Amino acid sequence: MNWIEETSSDDKAVIDEIKSQGKLPKHIAVIMDGNGRWANEQGFTRTKGHLEGIESVRDIVKASVQIDLKHLTLYAFSIENWKRPASEVSILMKLLETYLKKEFKEINENNIRLNAIGRLNSLPTSVNKLLHKITNHTKNNSGLTLTLALSYSGRWDIVRAVQMLSLDVRRGKLSPEDISDELFSKYLQTSNMPDPDLLIRTSGEMRLSNFMLWEMAYSEIYITEKYWPSFRRDDFFQAILNFQRRERRFGMTSAQISKEKNSSSYFQRVVNAINI
Ligand code: IPE
Ligand code: IPE
Ligand code: MG
Repeated sequence: MNWIEETSSDDKAVIDEIKSQGKLPKHIAVIMDGNGRWANEQGFTRTKGHLEGIESVRDIVKASVQIDLKHLTLYAFSIENWKRPASEVSILMKLLETYLKKEFKEINENNIRLNAIGRLNSLPTSVNKLLHKITNHTKNNSGLTLTLALSYSGRWDIVRAVQMLSLDVRRGKLSPEDISDELFSKYLQTSNMPDPDLLIRTSGEMRLSNFMLWEMAYSEIYITEKYWPSFRRDDFFQAILNFQRRERRFGMTSAQISKEKNSSSYFQRVVNAINI
């Protein structure tokens, strides 16, 4: 099914509004939080919350394709989440596997490139294999890059990058003076994507929970009280419209921004600052 052709007329109106604003984020990252609380408040099990959360994932991925977003990164399971009861971890892994199996065809048909970041070898073998199969199968797709952060934590990736960088120094491939912001970024698992322009976190929590710590240096943050299972396309579009109304200054003053808005030096600085 082609999701772009399926866009409803109501969605078309808001998508046109988003597109007419011009400043479409290239990369949106989402901390999908609140599945358990959503379920608890309605007397359901946490599993039901995770199941409904998958419906939100489907809707947000589809909406991302419809607005022609380039990168969507979803924080689905953190390294810290391994500390949850084994029964919940096992259910989450099963749900992930089912989601991937079910969505594979539609993901591919909609030109999505699936990508995964995190300590993937600590996932169950079946999940790891499936991820490899889908990422490999979709690697030449040119639409949305959908990145799932699984068994991921920002500090873990930074430490991993430092280890690899040190090895290159020890082997003589690099000297410590060569290490720059840009070079360091190349060692992270996110090296093939721009830094997130916008971070959305659901369920009202005001924290990063170890998500993309390096990459979020200049991301705009949008926090909504809605729990992830009730966060759907309209909320997503509102978050984007809110982002588009903001002024990103990257350390400069507001006057500099408005003066230089149309000049190429401004554009160049923004490009440099957000590391495109
Ligand atoms: C997000 O919802 C899903 C994962 C972290 C895997 P939670 O399961 O964290 O739900 P709350 O925060 O307990 O409500
Ligand atoms: C963050 O949610 C991780 C994911 C959404 C995968 P948590 O529910 O684990 O975050 P904390 O522990 O409340 O910060
Ligand atoms: Mg939570």
